[in-house]
Amino acid sequence: MRMHRKDNLDARLAACADIMTGADLTEKNMKVAAELKNYLDLGRLFGGRPVHLEVGCGKGGFVCGMARLCPDVGFVAVEKVSNVIVTACESAKALGLENVHFVNCPAEVLPRYIPSGSVRRVYLNFSDPLPKLGYAAQRLTNPRFVEIYADLLAPGGEVWQKTDNEQFFDYSLQSFLSCGWRAKEVCRDLAAHPFAGNVVTEHERKFMSEGKKIYRAVYAR
Ligand SMILES: C[S@@+](CC[C@H](N)C(=O)[O-])C[C@H]1O[C@@H](n2cnc3c(N)ncnc32)[C@H](O)[C@@H]1O
Repeated sequence: MRMHRKDNLDARLAACADIMTGADLTEKNMKVAAELKNYLDLGRLFGGRPVHLEVGCGKGGFVCGMARLCPDVGFVAVEKVSNVIVTACESAKALGLENVHFVNCPAEVLPRYIPSGSVRRVYLNFSDPLPKLGYAAQRLTNPRFVEIYADLLAPGGEVWQKTDNEQFFDYSLQSFLSCGWRAKEVCRDLAAHPFAGNVVTEHERKFMSEGKKIYRAVYAR
């Protein structure tokens, strides 16, 4: 379903240009686009703070919550839909956060913006499960994305995943293992095994209110 384009979207995106990169891709071949390097200056943005990356940040509730909770971390949040990321950017601005930067691009293009080995942690929160077999390559835990995370992460870096979808969770586990990663933590009911500092995302709140189980894993190489 095509989303209705928000009123004044271009003006609203322009007003967020100081905290958002991207939406400027003329190259449509994503592999080629990823090679046209235009790295974020992470040192200037975050002054040497460790960098955490959220892929598919949606309206930004999680990354803004994390940025408030962890001022000693620099957060990069990626979202491919302009209509959605604009809300995340506006929230970060309203909160006066100075340790978040947004990138409006598909995850496939992340190596264009983020140097190899510069990220300490990747968050995948309630990524679209895309259950139809024909869409498996679009899942954010498909091996082609796992290889991108492997490249972006520093040695010892981790991927933290949460989802409500058991089939997608099992698929993700297999995908990371098949790429030579290990699962450091696997939790099949987050409500029964809560962990300190969990920031609830928009989708997580909705699924919890429906009584759904939340699955969580931490992957490392
Ligand atoms: C189900 S929403 C979850 C949003 C948020 N993380 C949460 O937990 O509330 C998934 C988001 O991932 C984004 N997304 C899906 N595939 C993506 C990709 N290849 N690159 C960047 N963002 C993507 C979608 O546009 C959508 O906003």
